[in-house]
Amino acid sequence: MTLEEKASLCSGASAWSTQAITRLGIPSIYMTDGTHGLRKSVGFDFKNSIPATCFPTASGIASSWNKELLEKIGKAIATEAQANDVQIVLGPGINMKRSPLGGRNFEYYSEDPVLSGKMAAAFIQGLQKNGVGASLKHFAANNQEFERMSVNAIIDERTLNEIYFPAFEIAVKEAQPWTVMCAYNKLNGTFASENEYLLTSVLKKQWGYQGFVVSDWGAVNDRVLGVQAGLNLEMPASGGYNTKKIIEAVTNKSLSESQLDALVTETLAITLKAKENHSENVVVDKALHHALAREASGESIVLLKNSKSILPLKVGTKKIAIIGTFAKKPRYQGAGSSQVNPTQLENPFDEINKIFNSSSITFAEGYNSLGETNASLTAEAVKVAKGAEVVLLFAGLPDVYESESYDRANLDMPSGHNQLIKAIAKVNQNTIVILMNGASVSMPWKNEVAGIVEMYLAGQAAGGGIADILSGKVNPSGKLSESFPIRLEDTPTANDFPSKEGVSNYGEGIYIGYRYYDKKKIETNFPFGFGLSYTHFSFSTINTNALHYKDNDPIVVTLKVKNTGNVFGKEVVQLYVHEQETAVTRPENELKHFEKVALAPGEEKTIQFELSYRDFAYYNSNTHHWQVNSGKFDIRIGNSSRNLPLQQTVYIESTTKDIPVFTRNSLFKEFKNVKNSQAIYEVLSESFIDKSTKAVTEDQKKAEAFLYSMLGDMPVSKFVLLSGGKFTEEQLQAILNDANTN
Ligand code: GLC
Repeated sequence: MTLEEKASLCSGASAWSTQAITRLGIPSIYMTDGTHGLRKSVGFDFKNSIPATCFPTASGIASSWNKELLEKIGKAIATEAQANDVQIVLGPGINMKRSPLGGRNFEYYSEDPVLSGKMAAAFIQGLQKNGVGASLKHFAANNQEFERMSVNAIIDERTLNEIYFPAFEIAVKEAQPWTVMCAYNKLNGTFASENEYLLTSVLKKQWGYQGFVVSDWGAVNDRVLGVQAGLNLEMPASGGYNTKKIIEAVTNKSLSESQLDALVTETLAITLKAKENHSENVVVDKALHHALAREASGESIVLLKNSKSILPLKVGTKKIAIIGTFAKKPRYQGAGSSQVNPTQLENPFDEINKIFNSSSITFAEGYNSLGETNASLTAEAVKVAKGAEVVLLFAGLPDVYESESYDRANLDMPSGHNQLIKAIAKVNQNTIVILMNGASVSMPWKNEVAGIVEMYLAGQAAGGGIADILSGKVNPSGKLSESFPIRLEDTPTANDFPSKEGVSNYGEGIYIGYRYYDKKKIETNFPFGFGLSYTHFSFSTINTNALHYKDNDPIVVTLKVKNTGNVFGKEVVQLYVHEQETAVTRPENELKHFEKVALAPGEEKTIQFELSYRDFAYYNSNTHHWQVNSGKFDIRIGNSSRNLPLQQTVYIESTTKDIPVFTRNSLFKEFKNVKNSQAIYEVLSESFIDKSTKAVTEDQKKAEAFLYSMLGDMPVSKFVLLSGGKFTEEQLQAILNDANTN
């Protein structure tokens, strides 16, 4: 290849396709969105993208906690991509929900990295096993929409490795997405698109990533720096502008051609694989995919409140009032690049009528498309509600409330929706609120209604999905993949979201979502992992294959879960880990494994989990490694982050030699555990304490004790500076070498 040809492969050929090189038989491949369905448009004419199946968006589908389902959806989208000559689908989106206000939270899975990573890996496998590549995005720390192309996310190393990286790490290691999409924002001062730490040392070296990195659309800042950092492909095309920059840089030796070759090799490998995996003449069974969308919707819906077991609706229910415009014009997906043109669209009103065809069903709009109500709309809704046995009140967030490119201003639903719910609950005690929203909302009416069902943005089959749940055809099995805080002020980023003056300080560190609410013992409306069923489950008989382990031993945990009710149901068994005494601050519980299990009435199953080192480790920023400290750990199992009835305590012995890396800045007290610490201690303390006269009087002993405690927190380099020559730099270096080798 010529230099020009190599450089040309580092930029797209158009909005959605890569550069072909006919001379060498190098094909162009086509990539397009999105995260919950295929969005293939001509250029940026998103309104007229080709019809495709619109599945529930990420926040909804993640509430299914169903890896098999995610894989099936990935496969379906791959089929539609193949049929439309698309080789890479730009999803999944897995940025953490640092704040519930994030404008694209509808498009991201969770506030927890393990749940996000596992959902992403399943989706990617579904795509790639069927010959279409994924694009894992947006790497990394794209946690707000406000000023997303310029904001500088300031995140400490431990928080990055424990919160903002793991979902990417899990997905890369388990599913090897053909591409990873870098984020728009800066991370610790450097744009993600030219961040060598992100794109090369973490992603490609530490995690062994095999694919190529594509920029978010328009995310490139300096293309040459991007090549040096490991950014393979700039999208969309920059019309040769950056190709020229690369050629100039190689020519004037400011960019090594070997670095360019390495990137082009990575890109070509995927390009050729994508072409080889492309299938012609693929036919899409739209009805089959719609049925999958309906299954996905039912599997993701979360039953949050069900007083007096008001749900499922009894078949003989005579008078049902359906209130809310969303019942006829459902909010079923989010806005922005992920927006799909659905092959069809069901609405709850029609689908409920089909199932409850013998009931008398009345309707009132209740509010307008902006979520505003007024006296006449409310009066009409109240009148309809008064005459009904049960009220199904559809509410949530209108699409202008949340979208790509802007964040939410608060946690609240439109005041019109909240006012309407209160007015209806006053006149009918059997009011069930059914929510269509992409992210958690406040619920000032929570105690005034009989039932609450969270649908999220449930895709084109939202109508059928909710009708199946309300009628009991499907028993709800969704669990919240994010916490539902009561007030914005309760959230970890209440004072710090979004960024100010271009900088976003992640001062809350590892404490986002349930990690924060648990640590601060803050009540939420509904906790992470929570969801009710029409049946009940019991957990029992937790066992581990031992009680004392070395930190690199495999740990096998088993337990039993039983359906103690009288209808079929599915339960999500969640396993959290808690470290009893921690050397560093740690969350109360951290999700490490989960399994969704289907049980007939009375049926009991044994579930097994295999735990390993990383399930117990925290990230040590001093040594830049994961670390398990010897001690007791509680393995806690249940069906919500706040309901963990089973617990087993195990002792884990660290095998990593506790040799901290001693430096001139190490504190004097850190030497006390080192093998020859006494000798070191003596030498160091002599440089300060006159040993010729033993401290005998109380005062002398107190003075010496104070001195030792003050010395304890002193960096040992100070001993050279302050000992008046008694303790030399050479002596210090000898001690450090000694301490680091023993
Ligand atoms: C957008 C989004 C990204 C999307 C891309 C292409 O700006 O950030 O998620 O895949 O551009 O549409």
